[in-house]
Amino acid sequence: MSSDSIDNLMHEERRFPPPEAFAKTAIATDELYDDARSDRLAFWAKQARELLTWHTDFTQTLDWSGAPVARWFHDGELNVAYNCLDRHVEAGNGDRVAINWEGEPGDTRTITYAELTADVKRAANMLTDLGIGKGDTVAIYLPNVPEAVISMLAVARIGAIHSVVFGGFSAESLRSRIDDASAKLVITADGGWRKGKVSPLKPAVDGALALEKDTAHTVEHVLVVKRGENEVDWVEGRDVWWHDRFEAAAPEHEAQPFNAEHPLFILYTSGTTGKPKGIIHTSGGYLTQATFTHKNVFDLHPETDVYWCTADVGWITGHSYAVYGPLSNGATSVLYEGTPDAPHPARWFELIQKYKVSIFYTAPTAIRSYMKLGRASLDAFDLSSIRLLGSVGEPINPEAWIWYRDVVGGGTAPIVDTWWQTETGAIMISALPGVTTLKPGSAQVPLPGISIDVLDEAGHPVPPGGGGLLVVTEPWPSMLRGIWGDPERFRETYWSKFGTKYFAGDGARKDEDGDIWLLGRVDDVMNVSGHRLSTAEIESALVSHPIVAESAVVGAADEATGQAVVAFVVLRSEKAAGQTKDEASALLRSHVATQIGAIARPKQVFIVDELPKTRSGKIMRRLLQDVVEGRPIGDTMTLADATVMQTIADQLR
Ligand code: WT7
Repeated sequence: MSSDSIDNLMHEERRFPPPEAFAKTAIATDELYDDARSDRLAFWAKQARELLTWHTDFTQTLDWSGAPVARWFHDGELNVAYNCLDRHVEAGNGDRVAINWEGEPGDTRTITYAELTADVKRAANMLTDLGIGKGDTVAIYLPNVPEAVISMLAVARIGAIHSVVFGGFSAESLRSRIDDASAKLVITADGGWRKGKVSPLKPAVDGALALEKDTAHTVEHVLVVKRGENEVDWVEGRDVWWHDRFEAAAPEHEAQPFNAEHPLFILYTSGTTGKPKGIIHTSGGYLTQATFTHKNVFDLHPETDVYWCTADVGWITGHSYAVYGPLSNGATSVLYEGTPDAPHPARWFELIQKYKVSIFYTAPTAIRSYMKLGRASLDAFDLSSIRLLGSVGEPINPEAWIWYRDVVGGGTAPIVDTWWQTETGAIMISALPGVTTLKPGSAQVPLPGISIDVLDEAGHPVPPGGGGLLVVTEPWPSMLRGIWGDPERFRETYWSKFGTKYFAGDGARKDEDGDIWLLGRVDDVMNVSGHRLSTAEIESALVSHPIVAESAVVGAADEATGQAVVAFVVLRSEKAAGQTKDEASALLRSHVATQIGAIARPKQVFIVDELPKTRSGKIMRRLLQDVVEGRPIGDTMTLADATVMQTIADQLR
């Protein structure tokens, strides 16, 4: 988003105070801000003790002496799975539905807290039987099926560490994540349903483990859930069926306590260089903030609400707001396997009606694609159960915001625009729905207990109305604890710019009221449909193809997906001989999809003769972005060859 459009946004005059009836019963009140302001650490200690059940209480809230690696509640002990499961059953809520699951073909499973607890206990024993113990890493490569949730919780229950890899990633991407985390076990399915077809997963695992690499893989077993019923190859001794092992496992399992700083999971996210970063989250602080935010930002009344976060469990949103936050709060959730448009374009709306969803959390890209469908196809559904809406992943433009409120929220539901990241683990900036007067387009205010600022390059806070870089100025409970296997990169990426202030990589503005407006990434990272993709990663996939000499990737503004991947490629003439530009471009688009996954497939690949470079050989991506976004080309003074951009612009025309 350019700063002009943000200027326009900031002149957005519409304001929406909390509806009176909503405010009356709201979970979060003004008091939270007062509490947190008077003593931030005491505030978090209180939340941790009130919201979670600890096997051993902690004596120190925060130890920041090892900055930038924080320790929260570090001498406390708890079991994350116990907090998400057993304690609700013990409190007499075993019959409450935890998950209303719906498969894409329309099959359903209703799982109560008692049933989910029993399943996770058995699964924990199954993992132990397969040789998994405390500190081992388990890769989970599953569709959005209950077994994904059961696997995560079973891993957590025994003190192992999960690394969920989104099912849309390729064999190559999966393998690099398996290797980076030295996973001992991969949990997958034969296949899952996507857009009316079974999309195979097990073959990708087979492919990943068969790839020739410098080092052998660490995987001892592949545990396979039967879901797609597609034919799969079998490696005797390595591959085992979930249903066989699950039935054979003992039903009873007592959750053991683990230290609050015991790692809970690793989740890979794109950065500015080619290699994805394994973001590490630990137990006590993560669960405290996931639980606190889920309860207060979404105004969760667990006895009556039906909550639905549409994210796949393979992303951080799925971890914190489809699994850990809602289950820790004893919420009733919807979990859906498929795509929003299968078998009909308004499937999500059908599900809101069917399950009487009252709290709905999704991404602007999905909202915009429903806007395109038009009201008529949506008005057929009764969405009157909705009382609160959430948005995440990228800035939500005011038109989409108003549409979301009017069409999905019946013209009354508050919208919480939540800013956070894989690294922050939980929501950091958001309105509180019973307190804050909403401003469409702005994420607004840091949550109670969270300290945010916008700094200029020199590290000074910008004045009201000014723009700069978003930072978190104090440690927070669910902050990342590092990058797996790479402490240096952790310091360099987040802590080298402003010392002990966390650099988020996003540009932002503060308006006259102090509300925050997000401006998008300031590094070479794109945001496509609410997911981060690095230009470097896609460029390295492109140059791995023999016909490619050089490539530059940019994120171009796109109405539907926020940004779209656009690639510029210089071919190696001898290898590419005989191919037309269209053929080469089609070939490379699918090559990226196989190398990384369909989400990274470029919308366009332009074959060009040369890339714009500075005299020192740095590719000027900004100029390429100007061309694809139809702007006048920026300053070309520093280019080694000033005519290159004109040639490219002419070629594109
Ligand atoms: C990046 C983090 C955290 C869940 C989903 C993405 C962008 C996220 C917002 C928002 C404007 C947002 C930022 C951030 N982002 N939420 N409400 N308004 N931008 O997680 O893949 O770690 O990406 O998404 O650029 O840095 P992620």
